[in-house]
Amino acid sequence: MSLPPIRTQVGIVGAGPAGLMLSHLLHLQGIDSVVLECRTREDVEGTIRAGILEQNTVDLMIATGVGDRLLAEGHRHTGTQIRFAGEGRRVDFEGLTGRAVTVYPQHEVLIDLIARRLADGGDIRFGVSDVEVHEHTGDRPFITFVDSDGQAQRLDSELVAGCDGSRTGTRHLIPEPEVRTDYFRQYPFVWFGILAEAPRTSDELIYAHSPRGFSLCSTRSETVQRHYLQVSVDDTVDDWSDDRIWDELHRRVDGPGVEVKEGAIFSKSILPFRSFVCEPMQSGRLFLAGDAAHTVPPTGAKGMNLALADVWVLADAMVGFFTAGDRRALDGYSSAVLPRVWRAQHFSWWMSTMLHTAPDASPFDIKRQEAELDVVTSSQAGLTLIAENYTGLPLPQLVHAVS
Ligand code: PHB
Repeated sequence: MSLPPIRTQVGIVGAGPAGLMLSHLLHLQGIDSVVLECRTREDVEGTIRAGILEQNTVDLMIATGVGDRLLAEGHRHTGTQIRFAGEGRRVDFEGLTGRAVTVYPQHEVLIDLIARRLADGGDIRFGVSDVEVHEHTGDRPFITFVDSDGQAQRLDSELVAGCDGSRTGTRHLIPEPEVRTDYFRQYPFVWFGILAEAPRTSDELIYAHSPRGFSLCSTRSETVQRHYLQVSVDDTVDDWSDDRIWDELHRRVDGPGVEVKEGAIFSKSILPFRSFVCEPMQSGRLFLAGDAAHTVPPTGAKGMNLALADVWVLADAMVGFFTAGDRRALDGYSSAVLPRVWRAQHFSWWMSTMLHTAPDASPFDIKRQEAELDVVTSSQAGLTLIAENYTGLPLPQLVHAVS
């Protein structure tokens, strides 16, 4: 027996940062949504991802009432260290731009958003399958899915948001190449990430260039550290014993004033490393946000921040549509967000190519990279360029300005 359709104003595919924040922002403006998520709540809340929130993201979370835990538990970083040729240079975010970043892992953001949506009576359906969006080019789009009890369901909405991450199904509804153009770049290396019970190596993150490859020392808390190593695209987790990891981190990072602090490694994983943008990010009544529309390599720590910036603009455009019957901001959504997406793409690509060692890098290439890092970190203009991009470029102007 089929159930009667569920009705809502916005059907949201995906309970990641984009989908959950969109649902939250819409709710604050009195607009209903239903969020469909294939993973379980435990899976969503437990998956380890990046951990840097730019100032815009922090401001948005505080302004919309989901910043309490972030303020209590997040760590504000007013600068970072870039190491190359055996020495470290500090980028003083706060001194250069008056802004900072906060270390607060993505899954904590998701825990906060889910808790708030549920406390506000929000409708998030976890563990669904076979999600399919239909008729998004007409006036009455709908989504079919199978709920966590195995029951076929239908969700009728006026607008649909595709927030289903880089393995998106919704993006593929926009025909390529007729309507959609994909811009894609692969890199000849990937990241290997570990979590370890260890003291912090330094108070601030360390981005280290080395002829042996890039490394990043990041942190999760006083006692848990997150470190990354550039490794070969063919490497697997099994290629990296604990001893090899620490040895390599020491060789790439240690130098005057810095020694990587070791501890028990309890998680190892290989992370994808690529740049991707699709244009436009919309078709008819379907709007893509976050990784469904664009992916950045992790070097610039931009992924979640871009997702939240997208939905900040998209929520405003949807509010204009529902409250004033005005489609203009919706129609202009892609063009409003894409210039900033491309700037973040450029920054992530630039940081990546400046700091990583290509497998075929010649001694000339290494020296040239060291010179580039020297140029950028020894001038106020160069340091400011990094600091402005890292702490987050200004958000696009809102059309309805209701947030
Ligand atoms: C992290 O802590 O996971 C992290 C930090 C900075 C990055 C990427 C990842 O650029």
